[in-house]
Amino acid sequence: MSAVLNRLSIKPLHPLFVAEVTGIDLTVPVSRDDMRAIWDAFNQYEVLVVRDQPFNDDTQIAFSRNFGPLETMEAHPANNFKPGHIAIMTNLDAQGNLLSPDDPGMLHRLRNEAWHTDSSFKPIAALCSMLSGRIVPPVDGNTDFASGRAAYAAYPEAQKAAFDSMTVVHRVAKPEEEDDPAYNEEQKKRLTVTHPLIRTNPANGRKNFYAGAHAQEIVGMPRAEARRLLHEITEFCTQPRFIYSHPWRQHDLVIWDNRSALHRATTFDKTQYRRKMHRTTVAGAAQDSHFATLPQPHVA
Ligand SMILES: [Fe+2]
Repeated sequence: MSAVLNRLSIKPLHPLFVAEVTGIDLTVPVSRDDMRAIWDAFNQYEVLVVRDQPFNDDTQIAFSRNFGPLETMEAHPANNFKPGHIAIMTNLDAQGNLLSPDDPGMLHRLRNEAWHTDSSFKPIAALCSMLSGRIVPPVDGNTDFASGRAAYAAYPEAQKAAFDSMTVVHRVAKPEEEDDPAYNEEQKKRLTVTHPLIRTNPANGRKNFYAGAHAQEIVGMPRAEARRLLHEITEFCTQPRFIYSHPWRQHDLVIWDNRSALHRATTFDKTQYRRKMHRTTVAGAAQDSHFATLPQPHVA
């Protein structure tokens, strides 16, 4: 690739958040200057789209480590109980055959069609996720993103003050899903944590709602009232004006800020088309105090 073609450029894809990064090959070691630009864009735009990045798992893991240490996934049906740094979102079995819609892994992945933020049920919630489109359906199967930051900025000022002190209980499984076989009792207990309702990005001071499907209760508030408020906040955040819907092409990489953006999978014809997405997830430090400095560039 020539030096001219390889010049990094960042172009907004939505009026409020989301940018496309071009002129960079992320499958090879990235320079400090380019990482700095990507890091700054990540903090500014919440969601970055980078097309034409033909990752394998090793190169995806190597690039992802530029952002910090990676999460190791919990063992559950969606990864065939083989936890590692790569989580696979797919409707295919290990041989590449279409899975039945009632396969446990398929049923588990249906949860991804609710608005959520990855790993909010962990004591150290995720900094960001990176999803690589390895096999994408020809139609549908978009990933939708909603800006909890733009929503917070647009929320009526008079009602915001009470939110600052609210603490939210996040669970990997909802209480009404007691019989869910995806997680055992130890996991359900360990993956019940609290986080503030409002988070602040230390890089720019901008606040956002931190809610979604795992947000179950508010500390000190009656359960029904809390669920109603959390539902209202998620509904507010996911109005069309705060949404970007990503239409996948093969070899797209999408990076999103799990501290502030909500996302959801959308459906496609799973009985006809194949879809295989590989995700890495970068762990944040405890609560909001991490990522003030740029990590050292990782050299593969
Ligand atoms: Fe997710």
